[in-house]
Order: sequence, then structure tokens, then C-alpha cells
Amino acid sequence: MRLLVTGCCGFIGSAFLRRALADSNVERLVNLDVLTYSGRRENDAEIRDDPRYRFVEGDIADAEIVSSIFEEEKFTAVVNFAAESHVDRSLFAARRFVKTNIEGTLCLLEAARAEQERAGTKLRFVHVSTDEVYGDLGPEDPAFSETTPLDPRNPYSATKAGADLLVQAFAATHKLEATVTRSSNNYGPRQYPEKLIPLMITNAIDDLPLPIYGDGLNVRDWLWVEDNCEGVFSALTKGKSGEVYNFGGESERTNLDVVKGILSALGKPESLLTYVKDRPGHDRRYAIDCRKAQSELGFTPGLRFEEGLERTVRWYVDNQDWWRPLKGGSFQDYYQKHYGKLGLST
Ligand code: NAD
Ligand code: DAU
Repeated sequence: MRLLVTGCCGFIGSAFLRRALADSNVERLVNLDVLTYSGRRENDAEIRDDPRYRFVEGDIADAEIVSSIFEEEKFTAVVNFAAESHVDRSLFAARRFVKTNIEGTLCLLEAARAEQERAGTKLRFVHVSTDEVYGDLGPEDPAFSETTPLDPRNPYSATKAGADLLVQAFAATHKLEATVTRSSNNYGPRQYPEKLIPLMITNAIDDLPLPIYGDGLNVRDWLWVEDNCEGVFSALTKGKSGEVYNFGGESERTNLDVVKGILSALGKPESLLTYVKDRPGHDRRYAIDCRKAQSELGFTPGLRFEEGLERTVRWYVDNQDWWRPLKGGSFQDYYQKHYGKLGLST
């Protein structure tokens, strides 16, 4: 396999790099990443010396860069992790989400289609998506299955849903061997400290307030990042063209339960919990039915949530050099710094 994998300087992509390069059928792996605020060059440190690996700094929405690396590398498969991934940022900067999540995915699909026609062989395309495209569940609703209608409720999930539909359209019309994976909330090492678990761990280490949106009773289903990567790898090797696969952790927890678990692991007081204004359009509950992935791909959520949370807390305690430089700063600073270079306003 000659793989183009995008967004591997981010949280999930960097875990996927390690998983993919452990497979001897992977003869080449090119990581295309534009290094936004959440892309960390050091996230590929463990595999950087592997002769099969190459890093290219570039935007997935830049057709020139994308087509030139296809020409050089003759890929047989693509896995697309690159995205703007944080819901809160999408509430005030939706245009950047449209650019990367929709236009970027389209650019990769077009290059893959052209390569398939040139080579005369099928090209595999795995698009990494999210359970958020299904919308919001009440406490008694059945979990999301692959046939649950799409009902995205924030700009992030709307752009992910748009990209998913493009991928499925390319599978139907251009016969790309494309699949979509939709996972629940991932957690583990190297997640940018703006998402719930790393934000709360890093604040608690410094005795800072832990901002709980609303009543803290929203529910998410937590999936260990390496379990998701295993699922994505199996979609790459065994997934059926045009199909969607849901991956979940069978670990539904309220936000308050998760945060109290972090406080207890760190031996910090619950007085750090601080209730703040709710996120607009805050989805109440996500839950995943992953029976299709279990039966067709052999997917299984391996690590128990309490064990995974312990490991994650330990990683942030032991790797303060990694996250300390990322704390603080406003969203406005972040725009100036990271998106000025892409010539985009919000
Ligand atoms: P992340 O924000 O940690 O990483 C995103 C990576 O993509 C970064 O390295 C960034 O530099 C890169 N990137 C962003 N825009 C790019 C562009 N235009 N061109 C090239 N590279 C670009 O995100 P993550 O949490 O690792 O999520 C990875 C994927 O998984 C995303 O598609 C996200 O929607 C999906 N997902 C995430 C979760 C989760 O819980 N984190 C759950 C389900 C699905
Ligand atoms: O479900 C999969 C999705 O999970 C992914 O597609 C997204 O990329 C990923 O960011 C995540 O989205 P969420 O909105 O669920 O994750 P986040 O970590 O932002 O928030 C998790 C829950 O915690 C949510 O109910 C909001 C709440 N929260 C979050 C933050 C950042 C707080 O209460 N306080 C906070 O400061």
C-alpha cells in the first residue's frame, strides 16, 4: 500500500501513523498537514526515521500541492483525518471549516479520482468523520446507527456531514473505493488542550477553574484513540465501497462524571468545578451503535474508559513540555497567527 494520510500532526492522525507503519504492507506513508494551531510537528517524532515515511507541509484544499504529491508518489490509498475539529471554534469561524472540511475533502477526492483513472486500478479512500453528523439524542433514544438520518446542529458537524456526502457521491459516480468512518469522542495522549478531557486535566494540574458548560449532564461516548485508529485501519483494508462504519467506546458518561474522574485521579478538590454559560446549540447526548463495524470489520472498543482515563491523566502529568506552550491566548490571537498565512478571514 502507498498511503497518503492527511492531518497526522494532530491528535488522532498521529496515533494512526504509529498504527499504520506497524503494518509491513504499508510500503510508503506520506503525511500531508498544514500545521494549524492543533498540528504539532513533534507528534510524528517516534516514527520520523522510518524510511517509508515522508512529511509534507501543505493544505489539503490546495489542488496544486495535492496533485503534485499524487504525481510523485503514485498513491494506492488515502486516509483523510485533516479537519478543523473543534465545535466551539466553528461557532465563530465557520468559513475556515467549510474551506478545510468540505473543499479540502473535495480536492482530495478529485485527485484520487484522477489517479485512479491514470493508473487504471482502484484507489481506496477512507474519510474519517464523526458521530456528531447524526445530531442530538434524548436520554431514552436508541443509539446512532449508520442509517440514522444526518441532522448536524453546529457548523463543525454540518461541514463534516457535507464532506461525508461528497465521499459517498464519489463512490457512487466515480467508483472510488471510498468508505466513511464515524466515531464517538476520542481521548488519549496528544489531544490539544481545548477539548474537554485535556483542558480539564491541564487546568486541574494548575489548580485553575474547570469550566463546565450548562448543567454538566450532557453525555458523550468515549473511545480510546488507538481503538479508533484500529477501526480506521480495518476500514482501509476490509471496508466495503460506499459504506459507512460507526465506531463507539461503549462508555457513555456525563461530562460531570468525566471531570470528577479527572479530579479524583489527580487528587484535586471538586471546588475547582465552575459552571459557565452553555455552548449554543449544545447537543445533549451522543451514543453509538457499532454492531455493523463489529460484524463486518471485527472492530471492538478494547480499552475500558476508567483505565484509559488514568493513562491519559498520567500522560499529561508526565508530558508538561508538550502542552504548556499551548495554553492561554485568545481565539483572535490564534487567527492572526495561524490563518493569516492561509489568506483567510473567518
Ligand atoms: P486535530 O484538530 O487534533 O488535528 C487536525 C489535524 O489536521 C492537525 O494536524 C491540523 O494541522 C491538520 N489540518 C487542519 N486543516 C488542514 C488543512 N487544510 N490541510 C492539511 N492539514 C490540516 O483533530 P483530531 O481530533 O485529531 O481529529 C482528526 C479527525 O477525526 C477530524 O476529521 C475530526 O473531524 C475527526 N473526529 C475527531 C474526533 C475527536 O474526538 N477528536 C471524533 C470523531 C471524529
Ligand atoms: O463526537 C465526536 C466529536 O467529539 C468530534 O467530532 C469533535 O472533533 C470533538 O471535538 C468532539 O466534540 P465535542 O463537542 O463532543 O467535544 P468537546 O471536547 O469540545 O466537548 C465535550 C463535552 O464537554 C461537550 O458536551 C461540551 C463539554 N465542554 C467542553 C469544553 C471544551 C465543557 O463542559 N466545557 C468545556 O470547556
